[in-house]
Amino acid sequence: MRRKLLIGNWKMNKTRREALGFLERSRGLASFAASHGVDVGIAPSYLSLDLLLAAGEGMIVAAQNCHFRKSGAFTGEISIPMLLELGVKWCIVGHSERRACFNETDGSCNLKILALLAGGMAPIYCVGESEAEFDAGKTEEVLRREIREGLKGVKADDAARLVIAYEPIWAIGTGKSASPEIAERSIGFIRSLLAELFGADAAAKIRILYGGSVKPGNFRPYLLEKDIDGALVGGASLDPADFRKLVEIAVE
Ligand code: PGA
Repeated sequence: MRRKLLIGNWKMNKTRREALGFLERSRGLASFAASHGVDVGIAPSYLSLDLLLAAGEGMIVAAQNCHFRKSGAFTGEISIPMLLELGVKWCIVGHSERRACFNETDGSCNLKILALLAGGMAPIYCVGESEAEFDAGKTEEVLRREIREGLKGVKADDAARLVIAYEPIWAIGTGKSASPEIAERSIGFIRSLLAELFGADAAAKIRILYGGSVKPGNFRPYLLEKDIDGALVGGASLDPADFRKLVEIAVE
């Protein structure tokens, strides 16, 4: 049985003071969820990672990005040893905003995923098609490429530590979520690709999240789908009341 997983991606939102305010209003949330078989996490800015680790009461704490090199002349970048020293064990890789605004490719994602796994961390690898690709019926082609290229060289033994987030680009921050049926079709397809790479048993253990305009009002039906294990949530994770509602729905 895969545990449900809900991760809030704060993107470039919340100062440290605002992050603390959120935590004050989220007391007991992670332990409540964990005791009901649901893992809850937040990916804050780098500057708030330590706050979430100290005051998150067991929340999973994820970075939003990392560099694949251990150190070097890469101004502005953060390395995996830096994250590990802080106690961060999870990291988002290949979010569509990073692919679109910061030239991330399947190849750079692959380097990061391999480095994260080698460091003992858990990558949350984001995949998903654009609106034009969806309209042209190319969703599976895109997902096949992103999964095969992004996960090239990953060992079956490490695969259980992976989390995949299916985030159709046309659903991110648009208010236009993919229907649970569309999400399940794509996520079921991703699981079949994972089975080709790692075998059916390993693939059955990998958690796959849906992301794209998830809100308290639309979250429930996704969780009823057999391959969807939770959500990566942007906008609705910024409001502590909304985030608490999402956790309560996942717990139900
Ligand atoms: P959204 O973002 O929930 O605001 O659509 C999701 C994401 O980018 O992970």
